[in-house]
This record gives sequence, structure tokens and C-alpha cells, in this order.
Amino acid sequence: MTRPTVGIIVGSNRRESLNRRLALALAKLIGDRLAVTWIRIDDLPMYNGDLEGARPDVVGRFTAEVAKVDALLVVTPEHNRSLPAVLKNAIDWGSKPAGHNVWQGKVAAITGTSPGAIGTAVGQQHLRQVLGILGVLVMGGEAYLSFKPEPVDHEGNFLVDSTRDFLGRYIDQFVALVLRFAD
Ligand SMILES: Cc1cc2nc3c(=O)[nH]c(=O)nc-3n(C[C@H](O)[C@H](O)[C@H](O)COP(=O)(O)O)c2cc1C
Repeated sequence: MTRPTVGIIVGSNRRESLNRRLALALAKLIGDRLAVTWIRIDDLPMYNGDLEGARPDVVGRFTAEVAKVDALLVVTPEHNRSLPAVLKNAIDWGSKPAGHNVWQGKVAAITGTSPGAIGTAVGQQHLRQVLGILGVLVMGGEAYLSFKPEPVDHEGNFLVDSTRDFLGRYIDQFVALVLRFAD
């Protein structure tokens, strides 16, 4: 059986994104149990219905990549207690035009990190709601991570054993869900 695919989306367009570092570490935890692809969102223009007649090529690339994967792992910061605009923008592109919602029927896990004490908890709740409305089965449970002390280095290696163990269990649960879902 071919391995199910998971697309990793990082909800930040910052070069030095902490969430990209976390996503690298999570990809290592997934290992070869799923086929991992990275789906970039930082090059997408701002959603504008006027562009629907002739969607920019980058948008077509993005929606095709989402359409191809079985599952999604979204690793995102929180901006003003919600999901970042760059991530919401990508979700909006994928949700339109009517009848062509690429998110429908995907299975997903969400997580994220910020230097703040509650580590993206509120932003993830908003994201969970938006994805749910679009027909994504978002895995239950919670994984909020404060980036203090630094839990991962620049190469995506865990620096804190308890964080690796906790997120390892979260990823194991996600992999099991994706495998069951793809079966
Ligand atoms: C516009 C803006 C709003 C932010 N709001 C929050 C917030 O609500 N909660 C939080 O924990 N951090 C907040 N932050 C801080 C981010 O968590 C921090 O910049 C983090 O490094 C962003 O993730 P990244 O490194 O992956 O881009 C905010 C940052 C920006 C730029």
C-alpha cells in the first residue's frame, strides 16, 4: 500500500519562523510513516474575488498541492489571539470558488508555538472553527507550545525531552488517524 500523504502548512511568512522550526521537528517525528510534502503559503497574493476569472499561477499551484494530499498538519503562530492573516488568506483561496473547496474531506492536526504563556491556544481555537466549517476533520486533543525555553533548534531537533515526548504522542495519534482514514 502506498503511504498516505500529509501536507505541512506553516502559518507564518517569517524567514526565521519559530513555527517553521517546530514543523521541521514534527516532520522528523512523522518520519517515513507518511509521505510528507511542504505546502507554502507565503507567496500567495491577498484574496480578491476580482481575480477569480484568471487565478494567479501561484494560487493554482497551492490549491493543486492541497488537493493532492490526504491530510494536513498546520503549525501556526497566533496573531492577536487569532490565526495569522497569511494563513487565513491561504484558507480563503482554497475555499473558493463555490463548489471547489479543496479543504473538504481532509483530515488535519493543528498545533503551534509562540513565546507567550498560552502558546497559540486561542489562535488554534479559531483555526479549528474555520477548518471545521470548511469540512476538515480536525483531530481532537490540544497541543499548545510556549517557545520558552526554546523547545527546538534551527534544524528541528528537540532540546527539551518532555516536549519531544508530548508532541511525539500527539503525532503518533495523528499518524494513526491518517492511516485509519486512508484505509
Ligand atoms: C501582529 C502580531 C500579533 C501577535 N499576537 C500574538 C498573540 O496574540 N499571541 C501570542 O502568543 N503571540 C503573538 N504575537 C507574537 C508571535 O507569537 C511571535 O512573533 C512568533 O514568533 C510568531 O511566530 P513565527 O516565529 O512562527 O512567525 C504576535 C505577533 C505579531 C506580529
